[in-house]
Amino acid sequence: MTAALPIHDYALLDDAECAERIAAAKAQLNGRCIVLGHHYQRDEVFQHADIYGDSLKLSREAAQSAAEFIVFCGVHFMAEVADILSRPEQIAILPDMAAGCSMADMANKIKVQQCWDELAKIIDVENSVTPVTYINSAADLKAFCGQHGGIVCTSSNAQKILNWSFERREKVLFFPDQHLGRNTGYRMGIPLEHMVTWDFNKPQGGLTEQQIRDAKMILWKGYCSVHQAFQPEQIDNFKAKYPETIVISHPEACFEVCEKSDYIGSTEMILKIVREAEPNTRWLVATELNLVSRLAQETKAQGKQVHFMAPTLSMCSTMFRTDPQHLCWVLENLAAGHVVNRVSVPAEEAALAKLALDNMLLAS
Ligand code: 13P
Ligand code: SF4
Repeated sequence: MTAALPIHDYALLDDAECAERIAAAKAQLNGRCIVLGHHYQRDEVFQHADIYGDSLKLSREAAQSAAEFIVFCGVHFMAEVADILSRPEQIAILPDMAAGCSMADMANKIKVQQCWDELAKIIDVENSVTPVTYINSAADLKAFCGQHGGIVCTSSNAQKILNWSFERREKVLFFPDQHLGRNTGYRMGIPLEHMVTWDFNKPQGGLTEQQIRDAKMILWKGYCSVHQAFQPEQIDNFKAKYPETIVISHPEACFEVCEKSDYIGSTEMILKIVREAEPNTRWLVATELNLVSRLAQETKAQGKQVHFMAPTLSMCSTMFRTDPQHLCWVLENLAAGHVVNRVSVPAEEAALAKLALDNMLLAS
């Protein structure tokens, strides 16, 4: 058997040649492989996805797919979820292993366990706190939730998941994204003063015992560096010029931006709302640049004007790591009988993480 094809043979291929070779490798694999693409992927990669979507839609696809190989054009936690939810004989692949998520990296098992232990000194955590992890987190944090009667959420089902959580226990520990937690909790009627922020670099999260006792939601102090670029003044300035603008934001944007938005939704929801809107409308969108640029292009024919909210162009640099060269490399290796860049979650961790993911899929 020949050795796997090395990545350095692909580094200098031009995108057009990659596109032809990707199509040829997919044809040769003849249905044995499915390519899933997140909406933030760049065009040169996105065009090769068999199915594209937000995190929830792609998790469901991974769970239902019959393909032998699931090639995930997204980031690491998404390929982990594909591995956990697929059957044992299926193989999840991430074209570039360096495609992580900086927000997911803001929480880790040791710090979350420390938080849990510190909370346990003040409140009865096992009976009064549901741990909820945003899907943008490592598999061991999903396993932590599975182990402690918790659940996973995505940006499209966060409200349903919080309802599920509050039906079981009176408080929620939400990680790693404070903004998704706060924006969702507020829309469910939880006052801001009952949502406290756990600063993972301070003893007891920087909170007093009373704050912890009074809190309904304890929000991990994580955030997305891409969505952090969106600020409320950008909305004010834009609307001063174009008062007819409709504003739509991803819930990873900060509270002040979401408060000034007409709509808040996941990537899939943003696309749906703008696509289905009246023709000749103007939109200001707070989410990643690749999605916004494609949406602007696509809806131009309907007279829609779609604008990116931030003044500087901010894309997700880790989503951007997946390029046509890496995609070509993994697919040609599969066609030649070699699996490269497999993402495999250890069995025990995967079983616990699956509990939390299954809770999510059933509740949403
Ligand atoms: P969606 O689930 O809305 O696609 O969000 C994923 C993500 O990482 C947004 O930054
Ligand atoms: Fe992570 Fe933000 Fe990139 Fe989404 S946009 S994958 S949350 S870094």
